[in-house]
Amino acid sequence: MKAELVKRPRRLRLNQNIRDMVRETSLDVKDLIYPYFVVEGENVKEEIEAMPKVFHFSIDKLVKDVKETYELGIPAILLFGIPSSKDEVGSQAYASSGIVQRAVRAIKEAIPSMIVITDVCLCEYTSHGHCGVVENGYVDNDKTLELIAKTALSHVKAGADMVAPSDMMDGRVGCIRQILDSEGYVTVPIMAYSAKYASGFYGPFREAAQSAPQFGDRRSYQMDPANSDEALRAIALDIEEGADIVMVKPALAYLDIIRRAKDSFKVPLATYNVSGEYSMIKAAALKGWLDEKVVALESLTSMKRAGADMIITYFAKDAAKWLTTR
Ligand code: PBG
Repeated sequence: MKAELVKRPRRLRLNQNIRDMVRETSLDVKDLIYPYFVVEGENVKEEIEAMPKVFHFSIDKLVKDVKETYELGIPAILLFGIPSSKDEVGSQAYASSGIVQRAVRAIKEAIPSMIVITDVCLCEYTSHGHCGVVENGYVDNDKTLELIAKTALSHVKAGADMVAPSDMMDGRVGCIRQILDSEGYVTVPIMAYSAKYASGFYGPFREAAQSAPQFGDRRSYQMDPANSDEALRAIALDIEEGADIVMVKPALAYLDIIRRAKDSFKVPLATYNVSGEYSMIKAAALKGWLDEKVVALESLTSMKRAGADMIITYFAKDAAKWLTTR
């Protein structure tokens, strides 16, 4: 009876060396992108309540922290700004002296090799918290486009290495490509939040970025979580308009979308392991219900296995440490 057991999958699970030999997916520090929230002021480093170990930094403190991140081997950061004043049209988003523009200059001066990606959106800058210009209760697509393109250009003028539009307006990638090219920035890539779902997992971020919509929700521009084919259409459009890297967001509840995207398009694919996904693990770990390191690395590995080439994650710094000391 035993002799018939020719196939023994456990042979390849015998010890760590053998398991490493047959491992199909690898997670590397180079795959990680770390998000930052920058605020006005000096000497500010305030923890965000629903996101333990994630902070609001003033520019001076931010630069110090980015140095640490760089030394951990993390190649890129994604920058979000929280302005001190907001208005109907989010004018601080494209002000040359805006918070992100000043932060980019400071980071690039101190750590020139760090890849600085800026999130391009209006929701942190508008008084109503929507990602664009609101007319009669509706976010006007084409009026928003102009402001989104202006915002991207101002980030690039400040020294951003890459721009990441997250507003979900139709045609924004094309508009940004056009304005960047016409100003001579032909070498600056666009990372498009292509398949961005209207997700409850952004809850903690909206506290962090002070960007919760003051009325209604984002479902007239972000995608319905029930849709999958639509994600492929959205990604195809962004590639056509000139996106260099495309993104699926959130990550964990959308691993199937990541896989379909990877199978369908041979372009670099990012995924965003969003605030709520981070907070869930952190909260359970704080309660002693989950092993944070095991669960976080398992989640990040799953995103790579699903097909993501790079992962934007609040776990980036911890993961970098875990990966290098294993
Ligand atoms: C801005 C933006 C959001 C996130 C990234 N860019 C929030 C939103 O769309 O409401 C979410 C990131 C996260 O939850 O970590 N539009």
